[in-house]
Amino acid sequence: MSDSAHQPASGASAGAPNTFLIGAAVFVVAVVLAIGMWIASTAGSRAAVAASGQDQNIAEQLQKIGSFDINLMARAADSPPRSGEDVYKAVCSACHATGVTGAPKLGDAADWGPRLAQGQQTLEQAPIKGFTGQKGTMPSQSGGQYTDYEIIRAVVYMANAGGAKFEEPVAPADAASAEEAAK
Ligand code: HEC
Repeated sequence: MSDSAHQPASGASAGAPNTFLIGAAVFVVAVVLAIGMWIASTAGSRAAVAASGQDQNIAEQLQKIGSFDINLMARAADSPPRSGEDVYKAVCSACHATGVTGAPKLGDAADWGPRLAQGQQTLEQAPIKGFTGQKGTMPSQSGGQYTDYEIIRAVVYMANAGGAKFEEPVAPADAASAEEAAK
């Protein structure tokens, strides 16, 4: 019983090394093939990645150049310098329409009179640098949505509404042509 039990087992174990060797050989060949194919395929795809990466860089650069041009065109097309009245309405009126925190109201000649006496240049600097007077403080209006040139136009608009006869500021060189075109 024990013999017959061993027989198939020893027969199987006799055949096992052969099967194992063949299996191992096939495995080795397969691994070598697989490595070879992997090297070949990654070499190809690495070249492809390098090529597409370069294409992408070029595409990105072109896009940058393109959008830069578009931005410049948009700026030139839709923003000739704002008038003093526009800037006043958009920004300054928040305080100067109601006189909040002591801001001189638009058209209030009594409040503007002594301020106008300081001269146009001094008044122009007030909203650009910020101003603290006897009644309150105006934070600097510079560096926002509007250029200093546009803010100065707003000063002229407000001052003239308060009784001054200030001249329009001279437009910066590049703004001048845009303004001319908008007329
Ligand atoms: C946050 C409120 C506020 C905003 C916004 C504001 N101002 Fe004023 N402004 C003031 C106050 C307050 C004073 C007066 C303070 C005082 O006299 O004590 C003042 C004073 C001034 C003066 C007079 C300065 C002087 O020497 O007497 C000018 C000119 C002026 N503002 C222009 C502007 C312009 C132009 C804008 C918009 C671009 C603007 N302000 C926006 C609050 C503001």
